[in-house]
Amino acid sequence: MQAVVYERTGGPEVLTVREVPDPEPGEGALLVDVEAAGVNFRDVYEREGRRPYTATPPAVIGVEGAGTVAGTGERVAWLDVRGSYATRVAAPRDKVVPVPDGVDTDVAAAAMLQGCTAQYLVSESYPVAEGDWVVVHAGAGGVGLLLTQLVRARGGHVLATTSTGEKAELARAAGADEVVVGYEGFPERVRELSGGVGAAVVYDGVGRTTFAAGLTALRPTGRMILYGAASGQPEPLELHSLAGHGSLYVQRPTLATYTRTPELLRTLAGAVLDHVAAGRLDVRIGGRRPLAQAREAHEDLEARRTTGKLLLLP
Ligand SMILES: NC(=O)c1ccc[n+]([C@@H]2O[C@H](COP(=O)([O-])OP(=O)(O)OC[C@H]3O[C@@H](n4cnc5c(N)ncnc54)[C@H](OP(=O)(O)O)[C@@H]3O)[C@@H](O)[C@H]2O)c1
Repeated sequence: MQAVVYERTGGPEVLTVREVPDPEPGEGALLVDVEAAGVNFRDVYEREGRRPYTATPPAVIGVEGAGTVAGTGERVAWLDVRGSYATRVAAPRDKVVPVPDGVDTDVAAAAMLQGCTAQYLVSESYPVAEGDWVVVHAGAGGVGLLLTQLVRARGGHVLATTSTGEKAELARAAGADEVVVGYEGFPERVRELSGGVGAAVVYDGVGRTTFAAGLTALRPTGRMILYGAASGQPEPLELHSLAGHGSLYVQRPTLATYTRTPELLRTLAGAVLDHVAAGRLDVRIGGRRPLAQAREAHEDLEARRTTGKLLLLP
């Protein structure tokens, strides 16, 4: 089968697409023909050798995708199966979820990791309530577009941030009430829009360039949820500063916690795929590339050239 393999031989990492033996599904695993694999920031970190993302090289990269079980034709999707940038993957049975009728397989692949993230952010990290003002950074990104829709579905108002006017249009189409282009001045703007109160929550996947300002955007006892760091890690936080900003809460969540058992994964992914099947959640596939262009796909993501989900098609 064809797969994208990363290797390190002393110098910088190398990503190659080559023929490798089919994976052998062990006890309780399924052999799946991959229809689409999701590209995520964690894959960039895996390629770069960052812990805990990396396996011992040489290894097949990627963790997200959807496809059909060889032999049965059952359609399944997953968000945490190593070796997903490939034509075939061996997926533990308790790491896959069924793709409901009415949801295309590539859409299911696109919805899994970022959709489940958006879902736990709005329901668990901070359960958004009717009338809340919410800041969504990188509002045209994979998580951002889904998060905005889910916040709006719960009756919240969204101030999104993006780097360009074009991306701002996408954020607006997903339901953002207001978009700040360029990340400057969003705390003042959300305070204005909320009648001087401030945001109930800031969902921050950008990190270094947004975190400190985000703390000043929150209402008293508001929540700063730092779920990613696309621009790099923020400066260390002096905990006592949370008092001065209005007794704030801070969380650094990870999807692994919210999918740590097969039941949690099934419930979370089931909720997301149900939203998609019912037409309540629009999953934007912003780009599709063949497996052979995995490197270019990573460069697109790192250079902020993507919107919504980027897929690799074996
Ligand atoms: N904790 C979790 O459970 C979890 C789960 C999924 C993802 N994540 C993390 O969440 C973050 C967003 O993930 P995603 O997949 O939805 O990505 P994404 O939003 O589709 O892409 C990242 C976006 O961040 C913005 N950005 C701002 N500064 C940037 C910079 N210096 N370099 C690159 N991008 C920058 C860009 O949008 P603009 O051009 O509009 O600025 C870019 O398109 C990532 O850090 C990811 O690792 C965490």
